[in-house]
Amino acid sequence: MRQGPGRVLISREEIAVRVGELGHAIAREHAGHVPLLVGVLKGAAVFMADLIRAIPAPIAMDFMGVSSYGPGTRASGVVRLTADLSVSIEGRYVVIVEDIVDSGRTLDYLRRNLETRHPRSLRVCALLDKVERRQVDVALDYVGFAIPDRFVLGYGFDLGGLHRGLPDIHVLEEQAADKGPAASLAPSAAGST
Ligand code: PRP
Repeated sequence: MRQGPGRVLISREEIAVRVGELGHAIAREHAGHVPLLVGVLKGAAVFMADLIRAIPAPIAMDFMGVSSYGPGTRASGVVRLTADLSVSIEGRYVVIVEDIVDSGRTLDYLRRNLETRHPRSLRVCALLDKVERRQVDVALDYVGFAIPDRFVLGYGFDLGGLHRGLPDIHVLEEQAADKGPAASLAPSAAGST
C-alpha cells in the first residue's frame, strides 16, 4: 500500500474564507503601517500567496528558509537557517507566516532569531495549529485552523516533496496502487523536501 492524499480535512472554500478573515485582521492591527510578511519556506509559500492578496492594504514580503538539522532529526530540536531575509527588519512591523506549528521548535527559533534584529513588532500568523503536538510554548497571534494530530497534504503541505499544489488540505491515507493519479504520484519513500 502506498500513502497519499485521502479525504479532505479543510476544503479550498473553507481556506479561502479563513484566509480572508486573517488578511483583514492583519490589516486592521497594522493600520497606518506597512507590515513586512515573512514567509517560511517552503510550505508557507502557497498560504503566503493567498494571504497577501487578502490584506486590503499595502504590505511588503520576504522569505526565510529553515530546516531541522539533518534528515529525520526534527525530534532533536536543532533548527538551522537555510535562507535569510533580503532586507533589514529593524523598526519594521513583522509578521511571520507559517503553514503549520507542530512542536513549536521552528517558530521558537525564528522568533528568537528575528527578535535580535530589533523589529518594531513581531507577530505570528499560522494557517494550521497542531496544538496537541506542542513541545515549546510559542505565542500565535493569528491562527487559521486548529487541527488534530494528523499528517496533512496539499495547499503547501508535502509528502517527500510532492502534493504541495493540491488546492485542498487532505489527510494522509493508505492508498491502493491502482487508485488513480494521486496515488501514482505518491513517492515510494519520503525524500528531502
Ligand atoms: C514544517 C512547517 C514548519 C515546521 C513546523 O516545515 O512549515 O516550518 O515544519 O514544525 P515544528 O513546529 O515541529 O518545528 P517542514 O520542515 O516540513 O518544511 P517545508 O515547509 O519545506 O515543508
